[in-house]
Amino acid sequence: MTEQPASPLHAAQRDGVNDMDPAAFRAAAHEVVDLIADYLEHVEDHAVLPPIEPGSIRPLLEAHPPEGPEPIEAILADVNRLVVPNATHWQHPGFMAYFATSASAPGMLGEFLMAALGQNPMLWRTSPIGTELEGVVVQWLREGSGLPEAYDGLITDTASTSTLIALAAAREAAGFDVAAKGLAGRAGLDAPRVYCSTEAHSSIEKACMTLGLGRRAVVKIPANERYEMDAQALAGAIATDRAAGRQPLAIVATIGTTSSTSVDPVGAIADIADEEDLWLHVDSAYAGVVALVPELRAPFAGWERADSIVVNPHKWLFTPFDASLLLSRRLEHVRAAFSLVPEYLRTLDRANPVRDYNEYQPQLGRRMRALKLWMLVRYFGLEGLRRRIRYHIDLAQGFAADLDASPDWERLAPAPFSTVCFRFRPASMAGREDDPEVHAWLDRCNTQLMDAVNRTGRIFLSHTRLRDRFTIRLALGNIRTEPRHVALAWDLLRAEATRLLEAETMLKELP
Ligand SMILES: Cc1ncc(COP(=O)(O)O)c(C=O)c1O
Repeated sequence: MTEQPASPLHAAQRDGVNDMDPAAFRAAAHEVVDLIADYLEHVEDHAVLPPIEPGSIRPLLEAHPPEGPEPIEAILADVNRLVVPNATHWQHPGFMAYFATSASAPGMLGEFLMAALGQNPMLWRTSPIGTELEGVVVQWLREGSGLPEAYDGLITDTASTSTLIALAAAREAAGFDVAAKGLAGRAGLDAPRVYCSTEAHSSIEKACMTLGLGRRAVVKIPANERYEMDAQALAGAIATDRAAGRQPLAIVATIGTTSSTSVDPVGAIADIADEEDLWLHVDSAYAGVVALVPELRAPFAGWERADSIVVNPHKWLFTPFDASLLLSRRLEHVRAAFSLVPEYLRTLDRANPVRDYNEYQPQLGRRMRALKLWMLVRYFGLEGLRRRIRYHIDLAQGFAADLDASPDWERLAPAPFSTVCFRFRPASMAGREDDPEVHAWLDRCNTQLMDAVNRTGRIFLSHTRLRDRFTIRLALGNIRTEPRHVALAWDLLRAEATRLLEAETMLKELP
């Protein structure tokens, strides 16, 4: 047999055309695992917020793509040199800003395997195991949360997408058939209305913007002094809208609002939704995981009557970004909103009916997010997850108790879960907050205080405004946060407050 000349492709293997061979991949993957393990072991050596300014990273990165291949060693060295130090460290136990997204080890391993297996469960046949695992994990989380079997669902990327899907389903359920007929020029469909509280997340407005309802469709119902939706005001707004010929469509109740984690009265809201025949969507993106803990289910009373519910495992269930659980007891309306099966996606050889998840979402392709969830729920067990959630709540309650016992600090909202809203308010200023000068001073002082704590790099806090007061938020949910980190936050806050007061006294700027 004459020897074949080496093909040009074969020759080019050395020049980067072909993928790594298994041996090279094995070696590189070991390097990556070492890099990750080192990162996690020493994550506290990093400043949670990298001490850099916008514009400082770009000059360090190559502006033009490389023409030739680079060795993986060089690329990984740059990950260590350029990527890691310039990241905001969500995995840092001092990350107490926003709501946590921390990746547990089994969740990370799941992501690695997801990438390697390259599954796309858009159709059952494009990933039988991805499809079946999703069904199983959705039911595990439903059952674990004490919700009735009537709920089924899917795993999306984010709560924003889950809510968009829910509101699209609400519109179909109302009989508008927008999926087929659109909205333009439809008599009697020019003023749809979606109700949520003033404290609801912006994703509801964004969903209405995207669905062609517009921001004007969103009616923001006032909240009470605990930042909970006023159910009577909701009933009144619906009556006013009906009288004016507008079309109420859906109500969104929130369990765990973004600013203060307040809880809308879901039972009373569900009564109104029933009476008015409106779709009820519950946004429990952050707090929903608390329902895994049976003795902590009181705030969820009534959510089992919702038409749809969103819970984000990527917030407080130690799941690497991204994973959002959308549950609905009326999934047929979700399908009505999004099902479109072109010929090439039609399964011809199907004996048994199966679920093709692409029919329940705007996108066709989808990640096999169920794998990481399946792995982490098995690794921790529901009991392990419950213990961690209780632990975070206990830590937050301890911090709230410290604030309550300190006359110079003021809590600005109830703390039903693991987030505490507060400000520094020297005892000498108590009762004077209505004085505009005191109000402005407190805002400025707390802004500086939070900034000073964040600049230490050891703790990262965020803020909001509650009743027009600058409010610092300490939000716990990172799997690596321990009591010493919360104690450090408290120490830093008090030390910075003392420093600030001393400086102000010197400058005589106290009101
Ligand atoms: C109550 C609530 N809903 C929805 C969202 C949006 O979440 P996502 O980033 O998954 O879209 C957030 C984000 O913090 C939230 O707090």
